[in-house]
Amino acid sequence: MVDHITIRKPDDWHLHVRDGEMLKAVMPYTARHFGRAILMPNLTPPVCTTADAIAYRERVMAALPKGSAFKPLLTCYLTDDTDPNDVERGFREGVFTGVKLYPANATTYSAAGVTDYNKIKPVLARMEKLGMRFLMHGEDVDPTVDIFDREARFCEKYLGPWTKEFPGLKFILEHLSSKDGVDFVRAHAPQVGGTITPYHMEFTRTDWLGWGLKPYMYVMPVIKTEKDRQALRKAATSGEACYFLGTDSAPHPVAKKLSVNGIPGIFNAPVAMAVYAKVFEEEGALAKLEAFASLNGPKHYGLPPNTITITLEKRTWKVPEEIKVPGPDERALIHHGGETMTWQAVAS
Ligand code: DOR
Ligand code: ZN
Repeated sequence: MVDHITIRKPDDWHLHVRDGEMLKAVMPYTARHFGRAILMPNLTPPVCTTADAIAYRERVMAALPKGSAFKPLLTCYLTDDTDPNDVERGFREGVFTGVKLYPANATTYSAAGVTDYNKIKPVLARMEKLGMRFLMHGEDVDPTVDIFDREARFCEKYLGPWTKEFPGLKFILEHLSSKDGVDFVRAHAPQVGGTITPYHMEFTRTDWLGWGLKPYMYVMPVIKTEKDRQALRKAATSGEACYFLGTDSAPHPVAKKLSVNGIPGIFNAPVAMAVYAKVFEEEGALAKLEAFASLNGPKHYGLPPNTITITLEKRTWKVPEEIKVPGPDERALIHHGGETMTWQAVAS
């Protein structure tokens, strides 16, 4: 039986660390297990310009533990009015790694997102020219589309045509949640890649809604069926270069999660590597974990993989219940808090 595995240090290609006291409380968990992370720009207010991103990067660096070699990678929050010249400046100056699309009102803090896809074409054309990556919350939020079909419709109606209109642009369909999304990415690789969260590989909508409503399984895109979960597990553990790690760790204060109008997101950074290792072990694919966690993402982004390593050990540990956040946020619950995990990431 395999009792440990050493791999190149993973990167998290989809992460929310927020701002202020929450940023300070959560940043060390990611810095411990990951070499780099793509930081999502859906702050309030969002990171829309190069100047916003430079200021945010400074706050992120200040929240890192002393001596940490972790590198934050920033994204630009795309709006109807994003200026292609500012995007170009941010990319050339090494501030922006990519641009992130939130369809307006698709998820948390996306109200300022895109309402008219015709308006963003000049930005996409500029990114294609620059070799910049386009990250997407890929859901069609037309109210006539069923919430469980949002990802499939987005691929059909928008992403498919964009891949032809911008053949030199590389896309990332974030937090893949459906078999349709998985199949679309495979069919359009290497132009399109996709990140996969731990929780979309762990749960089905029956776990979420079948035995009482579990507000901590409420995420966007919503968790789907067993068929979808199986497709995601097979894709992640296949080693195929188009699938890579993105935790979508998204902390929220308890009061916002347990509200009449609850907010989507799971804070999973402390347990993400433990969950991924468990899934890969269950699928008999531990040998493919390094490709998914540490090699495929850098390849899609045109970046070198990390050189230092991390070891995952097969041993039990109890997950803390929560983190304390000074101020009005007070605390955020940790995914699998209070449970025993079977794999533990230890520093190299
Ligand atoms: O569940 C989610 N939470 N999905 C998203 O797309 C955004 C995220 C957040 O920012 O909380
Ligand atoms: Zn996200």
